[in-house]
Amino acid sequence: MADDATPPDPGGPGEPRPFVHAPVMVDLVVDLLRDVPDGLYVDATLGGGSHAEAVLDAHPGLRLLGLDRDDAAIAAATRRLARFGDRVHIVRTGFDQLEQVVTEHLETADPSHTRPGHTRPGHTRPGGATAVLFDLGVSSPQLDEDERGFSYRSGAPLDMRMDRRQAFSAVDVVNEYSFPQLARVIETYGEERFAGRIARAIVDARPIQNTAHLAEVVRAAIPAAARRTGGHPAKRTFQAIRIEVNRELDQLAEALEGAMAVLAPGGRMVVMSYHSLEDRMVKQTFRDAETGGCTCPPGLPCVCGAEPTVRLLKRGAWKATDDEIAANRRAESVRIRAVERIPESA
Ligand SMILES: C[S@@+](CC[C@H](N)C(=O)[O-])C[C@H]1O[C@@H](n2cnc3c(N)ncnc32)[C@H](O)[C@@H]1O
Repeated sequence: MADDATPPDPGGPGEPRPFVHAPVMVDLVVDLLRDVPDGLYVDATLGGGSHAEAVLDAHPGLRLLGLDRDDAAIAAATRRLARFGDRVHIVRTGFDQLEQVVTEHLETADPSHTRPGHTRPGHTRPGGATAVLFDLGVSSPQLDEDERGFSYRSGAPLDMRMDRRQAFSAVDVVNEYSFPQLARVIETYGEERFAGRIARAIVDARPIQNTAHLAEVVRAAIPAAARRTGGHPAKRTFQAIRIEVNRELDQLAEALEGAMAVLAPGGRMVVMSYHSLEDRMVKQTFRDAETGGCTCPPGLPCVCGAEPTVRLLKRGAWKATDDEIAANRRAESVRIRAVERIPESA
């Protein structure tokens, strides 16, 4: 069921370590995907497979192509989804490869298939994916397992790689980046107002040995009064370094473009973001597709010939309710946006 490199279970000999990740707003995700046409459902951030499992249970006409770049997630999802048999295909890859992986998968499943989203002459059945889901960011096991180096709470090696086949890790960012590079990363991805002071403190403290050392250097660089608000003082810096290590925003830009290209008519794409930069990128991508890139002045009829390719399922984003946040703290920052591809004849 899983392509390449499905690793031995990360728990080592004996029982695999349990992969505990409480999925965010499953009911809404299932509702948004419940009525899509039968066909291929691409879960671009499979994680432990909880969203995927709920969607497959709710929609018997969907087959899953699940993607993730994390070996522990792939192993956990493979176990969780085994009961669906050949309805499930799992590939370990970055989601920047989404368009290529989907195209290859469709060609293998149906060799007469041409391009996703296009109807072959003489055929009425369009190719492509009828559902695409992104649940961005990190999973709870990535944050909670000390040796992954994502958490400021433990003295683990500076790592933070989602894909452990990758050589570049947090140690390179923390101990090798120049002061301006580091300050830019912390300011941009961490939205941290003390980015300059923190970057200077990191450069001065090198070599930084582990996550606890980094957390202490960051804490000490932030003025005492500011440390008392907004959670752990190192939270934003750790998030920024994680985004840099995993090229999260670059990958997302490529993935959204690829997902738009493979979305079949009548198909739906749902994106769950937890960071304002991600959400802004999603919003802009959906707006461009909704307007077809129209350049006419707002409020006037379109005369530039732009053709919308999607409709927004909601203007704006869904947010979690207080009850959902009480049940799952990860829901606090989620923004969910969704579009439906307009049928070609519309
Ligand atoms: C929030 S978790 C998804 C949880 C999942 N929805 C579930 O129900 O368990 C995000 C997952 O996306 C994966 N991920 C993040 N960025 C990725 C990327 N660029 N390519 C592939 N996987 C990615 C992470 O490794 C992680 O497993």
